[in-house]
Order: sequence, then C-alpha cells, then structure tokens
Amino acid sequence: MSRIFVTGGSGRLGRSVVAGLAEAGHAVISVDRDAIPAEQLPAGAEQYTADLLAPGEAERLIRETAPDAVIHLAAIAVPFSAPEDVIFSTNTRLAYAVVSAATDAGVLKIVTASSPTALGYGSPAGWLPPSFPLDEQTPPKPWNAYALSKLIAEQTVQMFAAAQGEKIRYAAFRPCYVISPEEWEGALTQQGHTVRERLDDPALSAPAQFNYVDARDVADFLDVLLNKMDSIPNGEVFFVGAKDALATAPLAELFPRFLPGSGPLTEHLTGTSPAFSIDKARELLGWEPKRTWRTELTPAYEGPDTASEQAANTQAALNDEIHAGLVPAGATKETP
Ligand SMILES: NC(=O)c1ccc[n+]([C@@H]2O[C@H](COP(=O)([O-])OP(=O)(O)OC[C@H]3O[C@@H](n4cnc5c(N)ncnc54)[C@H](O)[C@@H]3O)[C@@H](O)[C@H]2O)c1
Repeated sequence: MSRIFVTGGSGRLGRSVVAGLAEAGHAVISVDRDAIPAEQLPAGAEQYTADLLAPGEAERLIRETAPDAVIHLAAIAVPFSAPEDVIFSTNTRLAYAVVSAATDAGVLKIVTASSPTALGYGSPAGWLPPSFPLDEQTPPKPWNAYALSKLIAEQTVQMFAAAQGEKIRYAAFRPCYVISPEEWEGALTQQGHTVRERLDDPALSAPAQFNYVDARDVADFLDVLLNKMDSIPNGEVFFVGAKDALATAPLAELFPRFLPGSGPLTEHLTGTSPAFSIDKARELLGWEPKRTWRTELTPAYEGPDTASEQAANTQAALNDEIHAGLVPAGATKETP
C-alpha cells in the first residue's frame, strides 16, 4: 500500500483514479479546487480543496501529507474552453508547480497527465502522421495551447528526470478520450454528447481519431505504472487507450472519409483495430485495458457493428488455416 497524492481528483478522470487506487488498497489524498461530494468519497481516500496555483500551496499540501507518489491530473482539460493564453499558462504552471513541489519534498514517484492531442491532429492547416497506428514515436506537432501545454507537461517531468538522475522516478501518460462509468449509462461525455451518439455518428469521434479509454482502466494503468516505475527507464511517456476503436465500422473505411490523404496509411486498420497503439504500456508494464465499449455500454449497442463482424471473419479464416495446417497453431498471422 502506498500514499498517493492525486491532483484534479474531483474531475471526470480524477474521480475514477481516486476510487480505483483506493480500491486497490492505497491511501489516496485527493486535491482539487472543487470537492468530491462527501458521500462519493471512497473509503481509503481523504480530500483537500485548494488552488494549486496559489503560491506555496502545492508544496505545503505535499509536505503535510507526505505521499509516496504524486499523480498530477489538475488542468483545464478541454481545448479552447478558455482563452488560449489562459489554458497555456494554467496548465504549464500547474504542471511545473506540482512536479517541482513533489520533487523538492522528496516524493519518489511523480506522474503527470498529458494528452494524445500533443500529436497535432485536427489542425486546420492539415495533419498527417508518418504512419498508423499512432504511438510514442509519432512526432508531436501541437497546434493549440492545450496540446502545447500537455507536451510541456511531459517535458517538465523529463526535465526533472534529467536533473535528478535515477533517484526520483518520473513518467507521463496520454489518456485517450476518457469515458467515466456514468457516461456508459448515458451521461454526457466531455464534448457534450453521449457515447451512443458518438458511435451512431462517426463524425463526432473522428476529431479524436476514434480513440477512447475507460476511466477505470486508466486507474488500473496508474496502479501498474507506480508499481513498475523503479524498473523502467525514467521519464517515459505512455499512450493509455482501449484495445479497440470507438467506432462500429473498421477505421480503414472511416479514415479516408474524415482525414484527407490517410487512406494508404490506414488500410491495415481493419476489424476493431484502433488508431493508437498501446503496445509500449503492454510491453514495458504488462498493462492491458479490461473494458471496451462493447462490454460497458448500457444498454448494449444494437446497431450494425461491421468492425466486429470483420474481426470475427478474419479470426474464423485464420482458424480454418490453422486447422488446415497452413499456419502453426499458436502463431498469429502478421497483419498486412
Ligand atoms: N478527459 C479526457 O478525455 C482527457 C484526455 C486526455 C488527457 N486528459 C487530461 O487528464 C487530466 C484530467 O482530465 P479530466 O477530464 O478529468 O478533466 P476535468 O476538467 O474533469 O478535471 C480537472 C480537475 O482539475 C481541477 N483543477 C483545475 N485547476 C486547478 C487548480 N488551479 N487547483 C486545483 N485543482 C484544479 C478542476 O477543478 C477539475 O476537477 C487533465 O490533465 C487532462 O488534460 C483528459
């Protein structure tokens, strides 16, 4: 059991992170400008309301609560939801204030939330990555203050890692479009529509490249990350997403409609394949998301799901080839 200090613990993602880490047996200290309603504060969690941008506040709270780890989530989390200069200064100052205070207080594990938007998709000037799936090697090209502030949050932990050597462990993670438990049951998502509407109209999910992640899977990821941080390189960045796309049709069909020029890059995204790879988190940490929209949406989606059908047909064809002795049992065929 560890003592984990979570900033932004009252937010869309923070509530599930506080609950998930408390459920995993940790003592959680949630710090946010807004309080979690008392009846929703999980057993094993305590909370403080504070403005973490107030001078000295982050350091005071971290020293008083003496955590083993800090997870920094507090931010303005929606691009263009405030003037650009306000988003830039709020998010970069918050990241610096929390990470530097935790470092000065001698906290040994420090993690900050970044965002996939750091890659730069959605730019009005056009955007195409060198290849799909998108991963931690994809060059970031932020085009707005939010995306830039998240890239700077990553660089903030990397700067402290460079200065501290191996003594303190740092990491950053890029959660895909976060779906909290109540949103599976119809509450509005961050962009103001429901998950079901996002599935029915791919134009709603296309701006985020059809990515998503269940907030509880992010909590699981953070638990695993904190456990493994001593044994992985310092200052690493991870994508944290679902294993499939938030779409009912294969992305190979959807991308050419929504991202001009992407056809040749995405034709291998067949079946339920997502646009973002989580292989780094799988390989370095052994983390695997447990939930998908197909398991969580309540009531279940009843419309057409050609992505699943295509995945099932591909698997059936592979099974036939295995039975016919064309592919060694246990081997998976390379995706073209
Ligand atoms: N929700 C997503 O889809 C998503 C995707 C990628 C990255 N992220 C990142 O994950 C983190 C959490 O996102 P979220 O969706 O839970 O956002 P959210 O807006 O729901 O929560 C952010 C929390 O930070 C708190 N906060 C902001 N400024 C503060 C301050 N000065 N002092 C104390 N608390 C402050 C807010 O009160 C809020 O509760 C953010 O860093 C966001 O950039 C979120």
